[in-house]
Amino acid sequence: MTQTRRDVLRMGAALGIGTLTPNILGATTSTPTLLTAKRTNIQLAPSDYPQTEIWGYDGQTPGTMIRVRQGDRITRRFVNELPQASSVHWHGLRIDNAMDGVAGLTQEAVPPGETFDYDFVAQDAGTYWYHAHNKSVEQVARGLYGPLIVDEPEPVDVDRDEVLILDDWLLNPETAQLDPNYSSRHDQSHAGRRGNYITTNGTANAELTVRASERLRLRLINAANARIFPLALSGLDGWIMAYDGMPLERPEKLDGRFLLAPGQRIDLFVDITAEAGETANLIRFDDGEGYSQVAFSVGDSAASKSRRGTPSALPPNPNMDVSDVATARTFDLHMEGGAMGGLRNAEFDGKVMSFRQLAAANQFWSFNGVVGMTDTPLAELTSGETARVRMQNDTVFPHAMHLHGMHFRDVFEDGTLGPLRDTLLMFGDETREIAFVAGRPGKWIFHCHMLGHTASGMATWINVT
Ligand code: C2O
Ligand code: CU
Repeated sequence: MTQTRRDVLRMGAALGIGTLTPNILGATTSTPTLLTAKRTNIQLAPSDYPQTEIWGYDGQTPGTMIRVRQGDRITRRFVNELPQASSVHWHGLRIDNAMDGVAGLTQEAVPPGETFDYDFVAQDAGTYWYHAHNKSVEQVARGLYGPLIVDEPEPVDVDRDEVLILDDWLLNPETAQLDPNYSSRHDQSHAGRRGNYITTNGTANAELTVRASERLRLRLINAANARIFPLALSGLDGWIMAYDGMPLERPEKLDGRFLLAPGQRIDLFVDITAEAGETANLIRFDDGEGYSQVAFSVGDSAASKSRRGTPSALPPNPNMDVSDVATARTFDLHMEGGAMGGLRNAEFDGKVMSFRQLAAANQFWSFNGVVGMTDTPLAELTSGETARVRMQNDTVFPHAMHLHGMHFRDVFEDGTLGPLRDTLLMFGDETREIAFVAGRPGKWIFHCHMLGHTASGMATWINVT
């Protein structure tokens, strides 16, 4: 008896029964699924190079794929094992503002050694991604991103479904380590940090084995800090099915090049037209040269089906109508700054500074004369209200404008609307107008997804009440 009690006590001490008591008594606390950000070494460069230290979710880059069915709940306990504070943003998902993961706006950054519980419902089907949203210019460049796929309720008629995350890494050519100057003055005042080593799903030689006549769904995600990928298909017939997760009403037959800007996604259906023994390619253009971004080597075995015709559209996501555009309030967003721009001065940190003073603070860009986030939002909106933003890019650089929590449509000059997107690529000196319906209440950041630009001024927010 005494011995038994002592044994029980000893076990109790070892297990720390005091803290476990609620579970032992049958409380319904299930173990949370962890998403752990940590440092790790991987063979990123070719095998004759040393390993590269990266930061990845669950020690990988891209991080673990999160894949659920439309309407499912996603819960993740984010565990920060990095030497820096961090947070996780679920790019493109319509979720509660408190779960949006923007450090300093929707939550405090999670300090090293601490955790944060994310919990939301994936109401929209499509291709999304998650990434760090604190010091993103550094943390995303180090590898902190992963795919988030929400499947349609009914299976889609394709033979296979492939997620392809494109990235570029700025590696030291000898050591294969990431260039540690994440806030380079030159990069931030120009096109952003562009890498010298381009990968798909973490490998420079992405290759898939396919069968003739197969139909594939390719989910392209651009996780690069600043690189715009000009892409094309060879040996493949393709259709654009969705932009930024949202299905097109009519699939668009691909003919020639298309662009994938940082933060953007494109869902393609591609039919293998190359013959057995041949190789089809997703081609990337770089300085006028074409390179294989992904090779599809066509095996001998016959496809399960003969060629299909034009695909029918993917099912639309719920409540995506942008109506009342004609009567909506319009807000102006004047984008200025950068090298070779005309910005003379702007407000930063509550003070008006000359461009030279801003440059000394490593700040180069302004929205409506203000550099970076302030207490004043670009727009105060009521949930359900349609709003328009007229964006004038008075810089010589392209910018990939990303609105959190809402998808928008281009408003063209003739009044027609473009496809739903969450990230819009604007070229130098271009003016574009978008319209969207204010979503859930909260503070929604609106920023350039060239992450060095975000860090040096290109961020504002929209307040929805
Ligand atoms: Cu994909 Cu604010 O980010
Ligand atoms: Cu930009």
